[in-house]
Amino acid sequence: MSENASRKILVTSALPYANGSIHLGHMVEYVQSDIWVRFQKMQGHTVHYVCADDTHGTPIMLRAEKEGITPEELIGRVHTEHYADFSDFLIEFDNYYSTNSEENRELSSRIYRELKANDKIATRTIEQYYDPVKNMFLPDRFIKGECPKCHAKDQYGDSCEVCGTTYSPTELINPYSAVSGATPVRKETEHYFFKLSECEEFLKQWTRSGTLQAEAANKMGEWFGSGLSDWDISRDAPYFGFEIPDAPGKYFYVWLDAPIGYMASFKNLSDRIGLDFDEYWKADSKTELYHFIGKDILYFHALFWPATLQYSGYRTPTKVFAHGFLTVNGEKMSKSRGTFITARSYLEHVKNPEYLRYYYAAKLNGTMEDIDLSLDDFIARVNSDLVGKYINIASRTAGFISKRFDSKLAAIADNAVINELRTAADAIRTSLESRDSGRALREIMALADKANGYVAENAPWEMAKQAGREDELHQVCSASLEMFRLLTLYLKPVLPGLSTAIEDFLNINPLTWGDIDLPLSAGHIIKPYQHLVTRIDPKQVEAMVEANKESLQQQAGTVSAAPATQDASAEEGEYISIDDFTKVDLRIARIANAEHVEGAEKLLKLTLDIGEEKTRQVFAGIKSAYDPETLKGRLTVMVANLAPRKMKFGLSEGMVLAASDERGGPFILSPDSGAQAGMRVK
Ligand code: MSP
Ligand code: ZN
Repeated sequence: MSENASRKILVTSALPYANGSIHLGHMVEYVQSDIWVRFQKMQGHTVHYVCADDTHGTPIMLRAEKEGITPEELIGRVHTEHYADFSDFLIEFDNYYSTNSEENRELSSRIYRELKANDKIATRTIEQYYDPVKNMFLPDRFIKGECPKCHAKDQYGDSCEVCGTTYSPTELINPYSAVSGATPVRKETEHYFFKLSECEEFLKQWTRSGTLQAEAANKMGEWFGSGLSDWDISRDAPYFGFEIPDAPGKYFYVWLDAPIGYMASFKNLSDRIGLDFDEYWKADSKTELYHFIGKDILYFHALFWPATLQYSGYRTPTKVFAHGFLTVNGEKMSKSRGTFITARSYLEHVKNPEYLRYYYAAKLNGTMEDIDLSLDDFIARVNSDLVGKYINIASRTAGFISKRFDSKLAAIADNAVINELRTAADAIRTSLESRDSGRALREIMALADKANGYVAENAPWEMAKQAGREDELHQVCSASLEMFRLLTLYLKPVLPGLSTAIEDFLNINPLTWGDIDLPLSAGHIIKPYQHLVTRIDPKQVEAMVEANKESLQQQAGTVSAAPATQDASAEEGEYISIDDFTKVDLRIARIANAEHVEGAEKLLKLTLDIGEEKTRQVFAGIKSAYDPETLKGRLTVMVANLAPRKMKFGLSEGMVLAASDERGGPFILSPDSGAQAGMRVK
């Protein structure tokens, strides 16, 4: 592929489970893929970046049951939460969808039918543990018992956390159901299998065609060596998922429809913005398809997924990019140490998402090696690189341009440092293309050092004090800002928010790769320099760790993949905790539209804008007090993370706040002037 030809690229990140919060481990992946996508977009390629929540399976079903809500309500609430976390980390999906969608149901059924027509589906009777109290078959993670090897008590059905042995649940001593506590019984059931064992030749050839990193290809070698087993793709009711078309009471296993969720999200995007779905997914597609994943889910993406696509008549992935796992301070993330840090809690304490984006980018190198977030190093690196080296270039020179030269730049003379910065473009591009952002940032920071050296050597603050050196001062400051512009361009995929602020300050159009050769010109006017980033205060990081430290008791109520007990805090007294309060996402909303609903006595249909790309539809019981015309354009307050609710007249996606009692009402709330749609209310 020639470097300049425009490419059509579809990128995915793994779909996070809808039963837990996004944490800093997840963020490694979303930051890595978002940087790559932004980089490709800056090259001028056509890129679509899609993701979704992974919503099916037993843990989600049981969790909803414990919370006393429907699975649909649970996944609706989590979707809002996840989407807000990603947006606030500047992860810019073109579509963030759900696997519990009609598109996904249709595609999953179609793919299943194709696999069946290609004789890749078999049925077989298996024996599985069954909970006689709950009347359900138990997944391995929901059976506990004594480890057959080291005799540790209360171990999960698939592996022992004490000695690390893996086994099958039938080997556990004194097994019990983690759902009801009952002793499980063995029971026969018919399951559906995807005949993966027949796909070995195809998979070997797919692996050899350069689709995987070297380490991943090695792993595949091991798997081929031990032989591929057929894949069990069905689960018995009760199960939250899609029923198999010709098999009542049987559901697709969550991992069957999860990757199809990539296609479904893209299908939804295609229908919305008018793309040709088939162009991207047909067997002989000329477009590129990349999946970013963590190393833990390689088996699914490098074996099951390409085989599923191949034998149902679709294209296979161009490449699968696997990254390693996050450790914090050299250890596995831990709730008791406070290093199991949620994305939200990072934002609350450290605030700036770009510090973490920068740090992860500096650590990632395109391999499957684990990466460590060393909190001291994080503070030191961000403060020294971003504030000390990069921003410093502008903060030491921009003021002179505004004060002495009417904000106008000089014609920039030939300059060795600028030339060097420009020549580095190809090397930086190569590193970013191969996801070696660590290497790219080392190169960029070496260039920032040179730019700083240029400023220090010329010492504009000295020139400013001496008479007759105006032209020199003008030249040095203008050249420094051109260096700053080039560095900003290179850093833009990593620091998109800061880059936007700098584009505004430099008074230039959004930077793309092509702008490398279009320097700031003579007479160009910049805006006044304003403080762009602050240093991280170690106290913020300490407070974050402290806030994430959980006592064992608290842990029982938190979100986890394993069965969690219900949070009892609401029953404990008349107070709610600050955490309970912050769970409610209150936002300033602009009433974009208000109308009567045919047949509804009390309701008005409101269209609310909270600054996201999609508006929200909310049915509010305020018809008795308001003429819809008078509401249009008004600001009010809404609960933005209320689980969407299906009402007789349509889906209601939130709630507006209004006061009322026997004295009158409803009176909807309005903010003071100055508030804007999308602002958080806290
Ligand atoms: N739902 C599946 C993926 C389905 S894709 C069709 C899943 N979800 S997950 O929420 O557990 O993880 C989402 C992504 O985050 C995965 O790629 C996973 O590897 C990654 N990470 C989760 N924890 C992580 C770390 N501690 N470190 C790095 N990445 C991690 O798997
Ligand atoms: Zn053990």
